[in-house]
Amino acid sequence: MTRRVRAKLLRIRVAVEPAYDVCIGVGALERAARELRPTDVVLRDSGVPAGVAELHATTTIALAPGEEAKDWASLASVLAALADEARDRSTRLFVVGGGAALDLGGLAAALYLRGVDAVYCPTTLLAMVDASVGGKTAINLEQGKNLVGVIRQPSAVYADPRWIASLPEAEFRSGLGEALKSALIGGERFLAQLERDAARLVARDEAALVELVARCVELKARIVARDPHERGPRRALNLGHTFAHAIEHVAGYGALPHGIAVAAGLALALELAARSGVLADAALPARVRALASALSLPASLDELRAEFGHPLAPRELATAMRSDKKSVRAEPRFVLPVRAGKLELRVAAAPELVLAVCAPAAKQGRARRARARRARRMRSSPKTGS
Ligand code: GLY
Repeated sequence: MTRRVRAKLLRIRVAVEPAYDVCIGVGALERAARELRPTDVVLRDSGVPAGVAELHATTTIALAPGEEAKDWASLASVLAALADEARDRSTRLFVVGGGAALDLGGLAAALYLRGVDAVYCPTTLLAMVDASVGGKTAINLEQGKNLVGVIRQPSAVYADPRWIASLPEAEFRSGLGEALKSALIGGERFLAQLERDAARLVARDEAALVELVARCVELKARIVARDPHERGPRRALNLGHTFAHAIEHVAGYGALPHGIAVAAGLALALELAARSGVLADAALPARVRALASALSLPASLDELRAEFGHPLAPRELATAMRSDKKSVRAEPRFVLPVRAGKLELRVAAAPELVLAVCAPAAKQGRARRARARRARRMRSSPKTGS
């Protein structure tokens, strides 16, 4: 993967069919504004503050902020607004917002006139490091998150780090959670770089953020180019997500930011990998816990429980995992780390192990002590029989 630097903007190619560039850096939004044609339409998350450069289009559609926008009603109203403008297939939909706006906007663009181009201007760290690349689009159903959608790549992405300065803290940390996942998938060099940059990132240093976004986009572009439709290697990007989606489901969607749930999901995936014999690098869980803490992310499910004041009961989590999109006949499948940069992609873990890793630490301690007592009794009881 090569980076091209032009007027301080990085360009990373996503080599899918058709290929597109992700343009990263201060000034990316002005670059997007220069690309706007009179027939283009802007879809803007109404929760995004003004401040960074604006895209002035003939038509701007306002979208409800956050996950709220990802329903049939919003999709229908965006499609109706596009139809009202009587645009033709040369119309492009410029989407300005976080992951939810890109998911909804990408789907509307894929459906309108059987597909017009979508141009993404992600405004959150989470959307820059993950949602804006790879073409996943979706709305939610009552039955679950992201159950309706298609994979359709955008025609360009403009990631301007100036948006990040004004992100609420929880939203910012959510992006760091997805970036931690990317580092674990990317391998030793990425992980070590994240360790070196953690303090600057937490302080929202612009140069460190640009480097982080570029590394995440490079990794994702490489994976998506090999497997755009998630039939194989792209599954790696779901590391920590079987747990994270269950956590979000049990807590109630929107109750806690996705990437923060992913951070706890990574800790659980590492624990499950250790207990099921998949993990080859025994030092990795402690290293990732330390890095999560340095990035002000929860380093365990208990830390997440304490921060959000939700019990996240293991049995409820296990039930939610059974209806995960990746489950096979209601048996959840997990992406588990072997070491940094190497993963097992479809592990069917024993249900009692899944329950055990989700148990609060105090309970795990009690269970461990009970097991030890049983083992001692077995050793000391007189042997009977032949
Ligand atoms: N967010 C994971 C993916 O795009 O595949």
